[in-house]
Formats: sequence, structure tokens, C-alpha cells
Amino acid sequence: MPVELKSEAELDQMRRAGRVNGEVRALLMEAVKPGVTGLELDELATREIEKRGATPTFKGYAPGGRPPYPGAICFSVNEELVHGLPTDRVLEEGDIVSIDVGATLDGWVSDAAFTAPVGEVSQEALDLIRTTREALWCGIETARAGNRLGDVSFAIGNHAGPYGIIAEYGGHGVGRTMHEEPHILNMGRAGTGMKLRAGMVFALEPMLSIGHPATQELDDRWTVVMRDGSLSAHWEETVAITKDGPEALTRI
Ligand code: MF3
Ligand code: CO
Repeated sequence: MPVELKSEAELDQMRRAGRVNGEVRALLMEAVKPGVTGLELDELATREIEKRGATPTFKGYAPGGRPPYPGAICFSVNEELVHGLPTDRVLEEGDIVSIDVGATLDGWVSDAAFTAPVGEVSQEALDLIRTTREALWCGIETARAGNRLGDVSFAIGNHAGPYGIIAEYGGHGVGRTMHEEPHILNMGRAGTGMKLRAGMVFALEPMLSIGHPATQELDDRWTVVMRDGSLSAHWEETVAITKDGPEALTRI
């Protein structure tokens, strides 16, 4: 069963955790430039999360026998899809980079991601980034009490156009822990699945690729790359279903 917020006070806690995430993500977005490394961005994220009284959710996370996650952010360049480790790899003009951030405030978790161009990038890359973000917002708009989970998945996938939709990863419930039920596919059939209710909170996170959507996990047990080496993008927001509609808690 998905966790549901029990009160307006709990929703406010999630709002606070989400706000930290949005602020930190905005700073990271500004900091993405040619010459910057993943480790530098990771330090920036850690500092800014902690300055706001929160802790980096990802640090030390070790699901299913994986080595503890070493950073505050995931840093995935070009054909790296998600969960790339922040290293001293230098961003270069023309790259695109996906950065995922988690912030836990007073025991409540927010999870969000963006893909950004590094300097001037190809029109092809810009179109991929824009479409992935739009697909996320199609999903957010559909996250309403009375709709079904399949409506959200369908709305996301329906906006993917010519791009590959990654099937091995998806969104999830989020609240007191980062990964809660349900798993949320980025494609699906409208009118199917669980009924949505006010109080549910989801991390919606479409991932699209220019080429074939098959992925591969590297030997570090974290970094996920596209098998065919094609460019990929990833956007994520933590979204609360309120009685007044969807509320993107991590929006920048
Ligand atoms: N948004 C990512 C996810 O839901 C965050 C992963 S963080 C990590 O999978 F700690 F697992 F790297
Ligand atoms: Co997530």
C-alpha cells in the first residue's frame, strides 16, 4: 500500500523537504558549466543541503547488497542514464548531464532530478531534454485524486514521441523513506491501476533516450548506461496529490 500523508501538518513537512531540494537544484543548475566536475557539484549540493538543516538522502544508501552510495547527487553524463557517481570527470562543452538530488528534512524525503546542457549543445540534445521535461509535467498534471496510476504512466509515455522510454526504471512513492510503493512505470494504459487519493506522494521520473531504450548497469553496481551508447535524459519531481490537485513540491 502506498503511504498516505495523514494531515496538513505532514503535507507541510513534505513541502519543506521539497523546497530544500528545489533550492539546491536551482543552484546546481546554475553551476553546470564546462570545466566543472561531479565532485565539485557534489560538494556544493552537500553544503547547500546541510545549510538548510537537511541531510543528503542518497549518501550511504545501500539497497539490495549494493555498496553504499558515495555522494549527495547522482551525476550522469551523456549516455549515462541514472545513478552515475560524482567523480573528477570534467564536464565539457556539448555534454548533457543529469543530476539527481535527495534531501531529507526532519525525517521527510524529497527526490528530484534534471538534465541540463553544458554550454552549447546540439539541437537534438535540447529536444530530448525538453521533451523529457514535458513528459514529466504531463504526468504531474494527471496525478489527481480519482484518476488511476495507469493514467499517470500513460500521460508520461504518450508524450515520449520518437524517443525510447526506459522500462527498467521508473517513479515511486516517497515519504518517510525514498523508495516506497507503488513503482510507477513511464508508460501504461489509461484507466488501469490503483485509484489515486489525496495525501499520496509520488516521485515521477521519466527517462527517455534517443536510441534503443535498453540499459546496462556498470561494474560499480550503480552507474546505469544506455546499451547502445545513445544520449538519454531524466527529469524528476516529488509530487503531492492534494485535494486541490497535484503539487510539485520540488519545483525550482
Ligand atoms: N531518483 C533516484 C531513484 O529513485 C534516486 C536514486 S539515489 C541513489 O532511483 F542513492 F540510489 F543513488
Ligand atoms: Co527517484
